[in-house]
Amino acid sequence: MSHPITASENSVAVRVEKVVKTFPNGDTPTYALRDVSFTALAGQLTMIVGPSGCGKTTLLSVICGTMQTDSGRIEVFGQDIGGMSDAEVTAFRSRNVGFIFQQFNLIPTLTLAENASIPLILQGWPSRKAEEKAAAVLTELGLGTRIRSFPRQLSGGQQQRVAIARALVHDPRLIICDEPTASLDAKTGHHALELLKESACRPDRCVIVVTHDSRIFSFADWIAEMEDGRVVKSCPAAEYRHA
Ligand SMILES: Nc1ncnc2c1ncn2[C@@H]1O[C@H](COP(=O)(O)OP(=O)(O)OP(=O)(O)O)[C@@H](O)[C@H]1O
Ligand SMILES: [Mg+2]
Repeated sequence: MSHPITASENSVAVRVEKVVKTFPNGDTPTYALRDVSFTALAGQLTMIVGPSGCGKTTLLSVICGTMQTDSGRIEVFGQDIGGMSDAEVTAFRSRNVGFIFQQFNLIPTLTLAENASIPLILQGWPSRKAEEKAAAVLTELGLGTRIRSFPRQLSGGQQQRVAIARALVHDPRLIICDEPTASLDAKTGHHALELLKESACRPDRCVIVVTHDSRIFSFADWIAEMEDGRVVKSCPAAEYRHA
């Protein structure tokens, strides 16, 4: 896509309008998203909370275009994701989106530096430069001595930090995180959120975090609560905590 992407502080970065997503399930489809409308503002860290199975991962997947909706509209930084071809969505994602998946999705045969450099390689960086940049981000996340290790040699929390490094390495405009602190202790989780918050607090950036972890609610600017495929509450984080 060649259209310029612009955003001013607190403009809408992600707009989800009346999105329905079903999965086939015998005669009665499973409604993962039932008419969801939702916005995430630029310059903010938005958290999505809600019980298991309420549709949080599905919502993240349709926002970043890895899953198609049945109906509704999704705009990311003003671009209509549903109106793009598969190749355009893929190119858009590799330039503009960083993911931290619920399962870390690290490649077992690649070292940490190689894993974390993947988004840069996809953008055409030479591998040595990409790995140097990845090593710098891994070092910031406390894994500087392990850059030549393989994922299987790490604890769950360390693997999670590699996934965070991979999401941040290409400085994407939109960072999407599915339970980024699930395997982290309080101190490491705090540091990971500080990094994500630092990324969000710029006018042309947006971070969306799905979490069950109430220890990290204090990092949110905005909280949206889901229940059974719907967004049932969406408010500034301060109001959510006091609700
Ligand atoms: N690929 C799929 N095929 C069929 N059903 C699916 C699929 N993915 C999700 N679902 C169903 O859609 C609903 C929402 O699932 P989703 O993974 O979005 O929930 P979640 O809120 O992320 O849950 P958790 O907190 O456990 O990760 C669930 O009922 C789930 O069983
Ligand atoms: Mg999930």
